Amino acid sequence: MNLAFGCDHAGYEDPAPHYAPALIEYLESLGHSVEHVGTYGQGSVDYPDFAEKVARAVLDQTAELGILLCGTGMGISIAANRHQGIRAAACVTEEMVRLARNHNNANILCIGRRISSIDECKHLIDIFLSTEFSGGERHVRRIDKMDLLGQTARTSS
Ligand code: RB5
Repeated sequence: MNLAFGCDHAGYEDPAPHYAPALIEYLESLGHSVEHVGTYGQGSVDYPDFAEKVARAVLDQTAELGILLCGTGMGISIAANRHQGIRAAACVTEEMVRLARNHNNANILCIGRRISSIDECKHLIDIFLSTEFSGGERHVRRIDKMDLLGQTARTSS
């Protein structure tokens, strides 16, 4: 699968393992192709910039799905969700990830360096990549409503 990965400086936060390189290496070991859009080191950056890069990759369909990481997974998910058509889910449990894919058709998973262990992150990613959207009528209807709301908000401002 073609994936986009982005993070802020939390991706390189000490102590080791640094989550960004460790998770990318893990994904590549599973055979995925990963576009790492940055950041690439410990220097302080603004998470909305990297949320935007991953959102664009997903919206442009150069990536099927995206993975974002910050300290909590929260700021970067809020930023990603500002982009019309992005459904970014900040998750800490397997069930959250499963339902985010199954019901919400989440197209970006957001995880937190300071919240989940590296093994937990790998597990959340595994579930994210292996769970399909159910396609259920009620879920499609609800997602359509969110997209419509986004369009209305744009045109009425
Ligand atoms: C950066 O220190 C931190 O605020 C950021 O990674 C994230 O946790 C924000 O939601």
